[in-house]
Amino acid sequence: MSKKTALITGSSSGIGKSFAEILAKEGYNLILVARRKQKLDELAKTLADRFSIESKVVVADLSKIEQIKTVEETIKSLDRLDILVNNAGFGLSSSFAEGNYERQLDMVNIHVVASYLFCRVAIPIMLRENEGLIINVSSMSGLMTKFGDVTYTTTKAFLITLSESLQEELRDTKIKIHALCPGMTYSEFHDTKELEKFDRSNVPKRLWMSSKEVATKSLKAARKGKVVYVPGFLNRLSLFFSKMVLVRRISQWFISRNEKKE
Ligand SMILES: NC(=O)c1ccc[n+]([C@@H]2O[C@H](COP(=O)([O-])OP(=O)(O)OC[C@H]3O[C@@H](n4cnc5c(N)ncnc54)[C@H](OP(=O)(O)O)[C@@H]3O)[C@@H](O)[C@H]2O)c1
Repeated sequence: MSKKTALITGSSSGIGKSFAEILAKEGYNLILVARRKQKLDELAKTLADRFSIESKVVVADLSKIEQIKTVEETIKSLDRLDILVNNAGFGLSSSFAEGNYERQLDMVNIHVVASYLFCRVAIPIMLRENEGLIINVSSMSGLMTKFGDVTYTTTKAFLITLSESLQEELRDTKIKIHALCPGMTYSEFHDTKELEKFDRSNVPKRLWMSSKEVATKSLKAARKGKVVYVPGFLNRLSLFFSKMVLVRRISQWFISRNEKKE
């Protein structure tokens, strides 16, 4: 592969698929990673035919350490890697203590272990060219850790901190690290068993974005050097107000604490 190369995890649907489509259009060769081989094969063929690129499929379940290692070896074997998108993920909505232990651990492996190890092997390759971009797909939940599922919010918060710390360490290079924090996005994310009680119609339509819009805005912001990025004005506004709610709760706690002492 002599052209620029991008590896995208979770590229069989949603935001990851949109990243693949945009980058193929820009002429990148692709390495597509996910579990559903047929979806990846179809996407790889369509994009290769349409944009005259090479696309390789790596079928891997990133909740399994040995399969994370397989992808790690694939990355290590590359002559060049220009873009890494750590996007694979899923949602949970359960109590920390009583939720499904295996699924919580799967989430830690996919969001944290896989993303961390892929950054670890990708950066030395990028350093050879002194250039590259890593997009860690976090979530607004990673910035609003007082709301939502504990495993989801903490693993997504990890990706934000990882991105900020890495960018700081790489400040004298041309490697860019970007934590994408989407809000409500149309994809297959809310169709899983874990989120079966979630009803899309309960969230105002204006708060939803398409996967394509999210991926397009993210790439633009990442290339400008934005490290932590929330796509969409209304998302940024709701994040601002959520912080106000927190400030109010903290103030109320302080007042009630002092009242008790008096
Ligand atoms: N949609 C939203 O509202 C929203 C909001 C904030 C953040 N996000 C984040 O955006 C990212 C992409 O999600 P999406 O919205 O595009 O949802 P999606 O359509 O469900 O896509 C998730 C992708 O992750 C892959 N994946 C899931 N489990 C995997 C596993 N064990 N091993 C390998 N790949 C796996 C899926 O592929 P296979 O099933 O083929 O393995 C799929 O390609 C996630 O990290 C999610 O947390 C989404």
